[in-house]
Amino acid sequence: MDRLAHRSGRGGNRPEAHRFTQSATLGSSTGDTYRSDQIVKSVIDMRSDVVTRPTDEMRRAMYEAEVGNDGSQEDPTAERLQALAAERLGKESAIFVTSGTQGNLLATLSQLEPGGVLIAAENSHIEYAERDGYKTITGATLESTRAERGVPNPSEIRGTLERTTGAQTRLIWLENTHNLGGGTAVSVEIMKSIADVAVENLVPVHVDGSRIFNAATYLGVDAKDLAAYADTVQFCLSKGLAAPIGSILAGPAETIDRARNLRQMIGGQMRQVGVIAAAGIVAIEKMTLRLQEDHDNAHALADGLVDISGIEIDPTSVQTNLLYCYVKPDFGDAAGVLARLRNAGVLAGGGGPDPQSIRFVTHYEITRADIDAALKDIETVLREIRPS
Ligand SMILES: Cc1ncc(COP(=O)(O)O)c(C=O)c1O
Repeated sequence: MDRLAHRSGRGGNRPEAHRFTQSATLGSSTGDTYRSDQIVKSVIDMRSDVVTRPTDEMRRAMYEAEVGNDGSQEDPTAERLQALAAERLGKESAIFVTSGTQGNLLATLSQLEPGGVLIAAENSHIEYAERDGYKTITGATLESTRAERGVPNPSEIRGTLERTTGAQTRLIWLENTHNLGGGTAVSVEIMKSIADVAVENLVPVHVDGSRIFNAATYLGVDAKDLAAYADTVQFCLSKGLAAPIGSILAGPAETIDRARNLRQMIGGQMRQVGVIAAAGIVAIEKMTLRLQEDHDNAHALADGLVDISGIEIDPTSVQTNLLYCYVKPDFGDAAGVLARLRNAGVLAGGGGPDPQSIRFVTHYEITRADIDAALKDIETVLREIRPS
């Protein structure tokens, strides 16, 4: 019962944080289900940065947003967001879209013909999680390129380009940060070498920069410095930047105009969209400035996990807000540990295809006190599985 008691101090020292209590209707591996009228349980939710809820400032901006019909580009708040996003990425133009998946799909649709080839680092989000939109809607195929923790080697890209010279259109696809690679940032130098290969071959580059501001923060550069080596960039407002909805696709005006038409084709044209665009403006202006805190928390979590029996982790692999660790087989698999952790009030995700892998994601609703509390819970759970 104690472990289910409300955690004191959660989010208490941050004016913008919303209290993170949740009606305790969590099922668990042991079959317990707690009804909200029985107990209110506070959880530490590190499944993803998509769980972040809009800040108070965002909610106020949404309430006060000036709006118009975005279908005819008459929504002043959406226009302001798009101009701001384009400026932050050093691009001519930008368009507000519903999600990262939609922004990525529009990048393929606006730059590839049917039969085109998308050249992406292995294990990219578009390959394993975007429901084959590039294939079924764009009519493109995907060539997966070997990569080191999501960072492709420019010579591998060159090799793939040589193998695919017959294709009418091609698009080089980078993910920065790379999710399954471990939240790994692709450096300005690598981006530049890949851009050189792309220019030589007259092939455009798209960056799935869902977390490009995390990459820029880790690398100590401006997002513009990374975007400079891509034709188009998609970034999410709704992940670590905490807006409730939306992504941006930025690039040359001509490409973005094409994307605007295509967005209508796929049903992504919205109307008084300023009510959500307003949160996106706060996300860019304010939330991009605090990401180091999330990275520091991910490092603190990794440093603590090193000392927990049953967990394997290379703390030097942690760069940004994503952290992958592994359950030693003696302790069962990740699913078993995750179920017990859930019961203890700590939520994390399965870390991809490896059944031993767990992913933790830090974000603005996670404080250092949460990290300390989560580490205690993780240690307790693993001790319960296998007392030392
Ligand atoms: C690297 C990456 N790209 C694209 C997406 C898709 O974004 P959305 O969920 O907004 O469609 C995600 C979502 O987690 C992601 O991690």
